[in-house]
Amino acid sequence: MIEQLKSRVTEKLKDHPKRLQHVFGVYETACKLAIIHGVDQEKAAIAALYHDYAKYDTIEEQIQHIELKLIKQYAEYPVIYHALAAAISLEQEFMIKDQDILNAIRHHVWGRPKMSDLEKIIFISDSCEPNRKFDDASLIFETATKDLNHAVLLAMKASIDYLYQKGLLPSQEQLEAYTYYQEVNRGEIK
Ligand SMILES: [Fe+2]
Ligand SMILES: [Fe+2]
Repeated sequence: MIEQLKSRVTEKLKDHPKRLQHVFGVYETACKLAIIHGVDQEKAAIAALYHDYAKYDTIEEQIQHIELKLIKQYAEYPVIYHALAAAISLEQEFMIKDQDILNAIRHHVWGRPKMSDLEKIIFISDSCEPNRKFDDASLIFETATKDLNHAVLLAMKASIDYLYQKGLLPSQEQLEAYTYYQEVNRGEIK
Protein backbone atom coordinates (compact mmCIF):
# COMPACT_ATOMS: atom_id res chain seq x y z
CA MET A 1 0.00 0.00 0.00
CA ILE A 2 2.67 2.51 1.04
CA GLU A 3 4.92 1.64 -1.92
CA GLN A 4 1.94 1.91 -4.27
CA LEU A 5 1.09 5.35 -2.87
CA LYS A 6 4.70 6.50 -3.14
CA SER A 7 4.88 5.65 -6.83
CA ARG A 8 1.43 7.11 -7.50
CA VAL A 9 2.28 10.44 -5.91
CA THR A 10 5.75 10.51 -7.51
CA GLU A 11 4.15 10.11 -10.93
CA LYS A 12 1.43 12.65 -10.16
CA LEU A 13 3.88 15.34 -8.98
CA LYS A 14 6.71 14.57 -11.42
CA ASP A 15 6.63 18.10 -12.85
CA HIS A 16 6.73 19.62 -9.35
CA PRO A 17 9.94 18.33 -7.73
CA LYS A 18 9.84 20.82 -4.84
CA ARG A 19 6.32 19.72 -3.94
CA LEU A 20 7.32 16.09 -4.18
CA GLN A 21 10.23 16.77 -1.82
CA HIS A 22 7.80 18.47 0.54
CA VAL A 23 5.44 15.47 0.42
CA PHE A 24 8.26 13.07 1.29
CA GLY A 25 9.39 15.47 4.03
CA VAL A 26 5.87 15.40 5.51
CA TYR A 27 5.91 11.60 5.23
CA GLU A 28 9.22 11.25 7.12
CA THR A 29 8.20 13.76 9.78
CA ALA A 30 4.74 12.26 10.27
CA CYS A 31 6.20 8.75 10.65
CA LYS A 32 8.65 9.97 13.30
CA LEU A 33 5.92 11.76 15.25
CA ALA A 34 3.58 8.77 14.93
CA ILE A 35 6.17 6.48 16.52
CA ILE A 36 6.84 8.94 19.35
CA HIS A 37 3.15 9.46 20.13
CA GLY A 38 1.93 5.89 19.61
CA VAL A 39 -0.16 6.71 16.54
CA ASP A 40 -0.62 4.09 13.78
CA GLN A 41 2.39 4.67 11.55
CA GLU A 42 0.78 3.27 8.41
CA LYS A 43 -2.18 5.66 8.76
CA ALA A 44 0.21 8.59 9.20
CA ALA A 45 2.20 7.47 6.15
CA ILE A 46 -0.90 7.18 3.96
CA ALA A 47 -2.28 10.59 4.96
CA ALA A 48 1.11 12.28 4.57
CA LEU A 49 1.85 10.82 1.15
CA TYR A 50 -1.56 11.75 -0.23
CA HIS A 51 -2.30 15.09 1.44
CA ASP A 52 -1.17 17.28 -1.51
CA TYR A 53 -2.08 14.82 -4.25
CA ALA A 54 -4.54 17.22 -5.92
CA LYS A 55 -2.46 20.38 -5.39
CA TYR A 56 -1.79 21.06 -9.08
CA ASP A 57 -5.10 19.89 -10.49
CA THR A 58 -7.13 22.73 -11.96
CA ILE A 59 -9.87 24.16 -9.75
CA GLU A 60 -12.39 22.53 -12.09
CA GLU A 61 -10.75 19.14 -11.53
CA GLN A 62 -10.49 19.71 -7.78
CA ILE A 63 -14.15 20.54 -7.31
CA GLN A 64 -15.43 17.84 -9.65
CA HIS A 65 -16.38 15.42 -6.86
CA ILE A 66 -16.76 17.86 -3.96
CA GLU A 67 -20.32 18.36 -2.75
CA LEU A 68 -21.87 21.67 -3.74
CA LYS A 69 -22.35 22.78 -0.14
CA LEU A 70 -18.58 22.58 0.47
CA ILE A 71 -17.71 24.19 -2.85
CA LYS A 72 -19.83 27.17 -1.81
CA GLN A 73 -18.55 27.16 1.76
CA TYR A 74 -14.94 27.53 0.61
CA ALA A 75 -15.49 29.72 -2.46
CA GLU A 76 -13.45 32.52 -0.88
CA TYR A 77 -10.69 30.08 0.15
CA PRO A 78 -10.17 27.79 -2.85
CA VAL A 79 -6.90 26.57 -1.28
CA ILE A 80 -9.09 24.17 0.70
CA TYR A 81 -10.32 22.38 -2.43
CA HIS A 82 -7.03 20.51 -2.97
CA ALA A 83 -7.35 18.96 0.50
CA LEU A 84 -10.97 17.91 0.04
CA ALA A 85 -10.22 16.58 -3.46
CA ALA A 86 -7.26 14.50 -2.21
CA ALA A 87 -9.43 12.85 0.46
CA ILE A 88 -12.08 12.00 -2.13
CA SER A 89 -9.50 10.61 -4.54
CA LEU A 90 -7.89 8.42 -1.84
CA GLU A 91 -11.28 7.06 -0.85
CA GLN A 92 -12.37 6.37 -4.42
CA GLU A 93 -9.13 5.06 -5.91
CA PHE A 94 -7.64 3.21 -2.96
CA MET A 95 -10.86 2.28 -1.14
CA ILE A 96 -9.64 3.96 2.04
CA LYS A 97 -12.66 4.39 4.31
CA ASP A 98 -10.79 5.25 7.51
CA GLN A 99 -12.27 8.61 8.51
CA ASP A 100 -9.27 9.51 10.63
CA ILE A 101 -6.95 9.29 7.60
CA LEU A 102 -9.45 11.16 5.41
CA ASN A 103 -9.99 13.87 8.04
CA ALA A 104 -6.24 14.35 8.44
CA ILE A 105 -6.06 15.08 4.71
CA ARG A 106 -9.23 17.21 4.60
CA HIS A 107 -8.10 19.44 7.47
CA HIS A 108 -4.36 19.69 6.77
CA VAL A 109 -4.50 23.34 5.65
CA TRP A 110 -6.02 25.06 8.69
CA GLY A 111 -6.40 22.28 11.22
CA ARG A 112 -9.64 22.36 13.23
CA PRO A 113 -10.80 22.17 16.84
CA LYS A 114 -10.74 18.73 18.50
CA MET A 115 -8.31 17.10 16.10
CA SER A 116 -7.28 13.50 16.64
CA ASP A 117 -3.58 12.84 17.23
CA LEU A 118 -3.27 11.68 13.62
CA GLU A 119 -4.82 14.93 12.35
CA LYS A 120 -2.48 16.94 14.57
CA ILE A 121 0.55 15.03 13.30
CA ILE A 122 -0.29 15.65 9.64
CA PHE A 123 -1.09 19.31 10.29
CA ILE A 124 2.18 19.84 12.20
CA SER A 125 4.29 17.84 9.73
CA ASP A 126 2.93 19.87 6.81
CA SER A 127 4.11 23.00 8.61
CA CYS A 128 7.55 21.92 9.84
CA GLU A 129 8.96 19.17 7.56
CA PRO A 130 12.69 19.71 6.90
CA ASN A 131 12.21 21.47 3.53
CA ARG A 132 10.24 24.26 5.23
CA LYS A 133 12.78 26.98 5.74
CA PHE A 134 10.99 29.55 7.94
CA ASP A 135 12.58 30.35 11.31
CA ASP A 136 10.28 28.40 13.61
CA ALA A 137 10.05 25.17 11.60
CA SER A 138 12.63 23.32 13.69
CA LEU A 139 11.14 24.69 16.92
CA ILE A 140 7.73 23.36 15.86
CA PHE A 141 9.20 19.92 15.20
CA GLU A 142 11.12 19.86 18.48
CA THR A 143 7.99 20.92 20.34
CA ALA A 144 5.94 18.25 18.55
CA THR A 145 8.22 15.50 19.81
CA LYS A 146 7.06 16.41 23.33
CA ASP A 147 3.66 18.09 23.11
CA LEU A 148 1.38 17.88 20.05
CA ASN A 149 -1.09 20.51 21.28
CA HIS A 150 1.64 23.06 21.82
CA ALA A 151 3.12 22.32 18.38
CA VAL A 152 -0.35 22.66 16.78
CA LEU A 153 -0.64 26.12 18.33
CA LEU A 154 2.80 27.17 17.03
CA ALA A 155 2.05 25.85 13.54
CA MET A 156 -1.31 27.66 13.46
CA LYS A 157 0.31 30.89 14.62
CA ALA A 158 3.04 30.59 11.96
CA SER A 159 0.42 30.08 9.26
CA ILE A 160 -1.71 33.03 10.42
CA ASP A 161 1.32 35.32 10.80
CA TYR A 162 2.38 34.39 7.27
CA LEU A 163 -1.02 35.43 5.92
CA TYR A 164 -0.89 38.77 7.74
CA GLN A 165 2.62 39.37 6.37
CA LYS A 166 1.28 38.88 2.87
CA GLY A 167 -1.59 41.27 3.59
CA LEU A 168 -4.16 38.47 3.63
CA LEU A 169 -6.77 37.71 6.26
CA PRO A 170 -7.20 34.30 7.85
CA SER A 171 -10.65 32.77 7.60
CA GLN A 172 -13.07 32.67 10.53
CA GLU A 173 -12.65 28.90 10.61
CA GLN A 174 -8.87 29.16 10.84
CA LEU A 175 -9.10 31.72 13.65
CA GLU A 176 -11.59 29.56 15.55
CA ALA A 177 -9.24 26.60 15.41
CA TYR A 178 -6.41 28.81 16.66
CA THR A 179 -8.51 30.15 19.54
CA TYR A 180 -9.48 26.59 20.45
CA TYR A 181 -5.84 25.49 20.71
CA GLN A 182 -4.95 28.62 22.71
CA GLU A 183 -7.58 27.50 25.22
CA VAL A 184 -6.31 23.90 25.16
CA ASN A 185 -2.77 25.10 25.84
CA ARG A 186 -3.95 27.30 28.73
CA GLY A 187 -5.57 24.22 30.24
CA GLU A 188 -9.08 25.61 29.76
CA ILE A 189 -10.11 22.72 27.51
CA LYS A 190 -9.08 19.15 28.27
FE1 LIG B 1 -1.74 21.24 1.04
FE1 LIG C 1 1.53 20.10 2.11
